[in-house]
Amino acid sequence: MGPVIEARGLTHEYPDGTTALRDVTVTIEAGERVAVIGANGSGKSTLQHVLGGLVEPTAGTVEYVGETADAEAVRDRLGVLLQDPDDYLFNTTVREDIEYGPAQLGMSRQAATQRVAHLAAELGLESLLDRPPFRLSGGEKQRAAVASVLAFEPAVLLLDEPFGAVDAGYRERILELVTGHEGTVVLFTPSVDAVPEIADRVLVVGQDGSIAADGPVRDVLTDTTLLRDNGLRPPATVQLFEGILDVDDVPLTVSEARAHLLDQTR
Ligand SMILES: Nc1ncnc2c1ncn2[C@@H]1O[C@H](COP(=O)(O)OP(=O)(O)OP(=O)(O)O)[C@@H](O)[C@H]1O
Ligand SMILES: [Mg+2]
Repeated sequence: MGPVIEARGLTHEYPDGTTALRDVTVTIEAGERVAVIGANGSGKSTLQHVLGGLVEPTAGTVEYVGETADAEAVRDRLGVLLQDPDDYLFNTTVREDIEYGPAQLGMSRQAATQRVAHLAAELGLESLLDRPPFRLSGGEKQRAAVASVLAFEPAVLLLDEPFGAVDAGYRERILELVTGHEGTVVLFTPSVDAVPEIADRVLVVGQDGSIAADGPVRDVLTDTTLLRDNGLRPPATVQLFEGILDVDDVPLTVSEARAHLLDQTR
């Protein structure tokens, strides 16, 4: 399908002299499912802002490639969910926040209304639609922010920790919505928990803001030394089966581990 985002030699230094990204070169292919993992302060959100076109890097380039030659049109199709829902919700009501993206992109009134109803039902927001976003609980705000970014069906989703504040039930709903999304997904997260369920490819941002690893999900998540060296905890199932099973057989999720154990006891 070809690349959608091509970033070369990205370095970003904040005005106070903090270097958050160091020489990051990464290509995101259309339809790919990528997780960007790294410790707190490693530079994930900075990378998201730069790839999403919200922050101009101090060095390097980001190119948007699409079926259309118009880079601006491609950028309009980016859904950039910021880490803090308060930075994402800015309208008078939750409904207006969810309708904002569809309206900006010229979706018909009828299609937008249907989209809002669908997402509100999926994310348990129906009784909250007429409330100001600042009068929501933390998890409700996160659900409203996720609904707002999914509402305009962006071709490329750049999601910064979309599960941090939600309970187990809504985590599953958001996972389903994200995995069911037709398009490219890049998830930025400090924990590996949702990574095997969402991603095929994993990028590790090192504590110095450079890319410490970039590879298939199994290769990265079973490399416990790499993960620990970069301030990350390997998946619980990898910790459990490390040294017991071959790397190729180590389960990455609880359901894989269960299937393995059931197989053994049969
Ligand atoms: N506006 C800013 N001004 C100065 N430094 C900043 C600013 N925003 C972030 N930083 C610094 O840049 C580095 C990378 O921050 P960033 O927010 O990208 O990390 P992160 O990987 O997203 O962390 P977390 O897991 O906590 O979300 C950190 O050292 C942080 O303190
Ligand atoms: Mg962050």
